Amino acid sequence: MSRVIAVLGGTGPEGFGLALRWTQAGETVIIGSRNAKRAQDAAEKIRQKVGPQARISGQENVAACAGADLLVLTIPFEGHAALLKQLKPAIRPGSIVVDTTVPLAASVGGRASRTLGVWQGSAAQETAELVPQGVPVVAAFQNVAADLLNSDGPVDCDVIVCSDDAEASQAVRSLAAKIPGVRAIDGGKLENARIVEQIAALLIGLNIRHKGHSGIRITGLPPTAYNP
Ligand SMILES: NC(=O)c1ccc[n+]([C@@H]2O[C@H](COP(=O)([O-])OP(=O)(O)OC[C@H]3O[C@@H](n4cnc5c(N)ncnc54)[C@H](OP(=O)(O)O)[C@@H]3O)[C@@H](O)[C@H]2O)c1
Repeated sequence: MSRVIAVLGGTGPEGFGLALRWTQAGETVIIGSRNAKRAQDAAEKIRQKVGPQARISGQENVAACAGADLLVLTIPFEGHAALLKQLKPAIRPGSIVVDTTVPLAASVGGRASRTLGVWQGSAAQETAELVPQGVPVVAAFQNVAADLLNSDGPVDCDVIVCSDDAEASQAVRSLAAKIPGVRAIDGGKLENARIVEQIAALLIGLNIRHKGHSGIRITGLPPTAYNP
């Protein structure tokens, strides 16, 4: 059964791009924002692009969360913990929380090509401490450039999906694979998110150095590893 997806912070480039791709794939998506009007405007932009059949709407973050059962965090690290505390009472049992956050030093005025040390090990592991008990957290999409998601072509990037919950990981891999060009790979436990988040900082540094929109491809695994 298909889940309703709330993209929290979906007014920004990363969340907007994911919401666009999933709406194009026929999923039901709610864009979340701190401001309901901003969320509705972003949803309208996607409707204009996808067409009247698009199942897309926009709401304030907590309302978006309450109306969905697959919650995708696409906000900068500086707002991460505060937003999760605000969302916690609205997270429905049975929901999955997907974290795309990279804890960039830019969050505290540092460089975008460096990360901050997070006590729990990674932004995604911090999320796991802040969601209601029993709600699985999945780390994914940290290495997918917003520019690629918002382009018209396929996305030349693999998505490494990390979670301690096998079913939730599988659900998110299926969703990732709905984005043309993306191959979703089971990246093992949630603790591996700390490595995947670091790769994102490296990619940002490469983009600055070479002026591009880099991504990653994992080679050499058996074909089954690339199937959701
Ligand atoms: N950009 C990329 O290429 C890329 C790639 C991979 C992963 N990511 C990760 O995806 C996340 C979003 O990236 P982005 O570039 O789209 O970020 P962004 O534009 O800085 O922020 C996204 C949205 O988050 C909301 N927001 C901003 N500050 C907030 C705060 N303090 N508290 C709550 N909400 C806040 C804003 O929405 P409202 O003002 O409407 O609430 C904003 O439109 C980040 O964690 C980033 O590391 C980004």
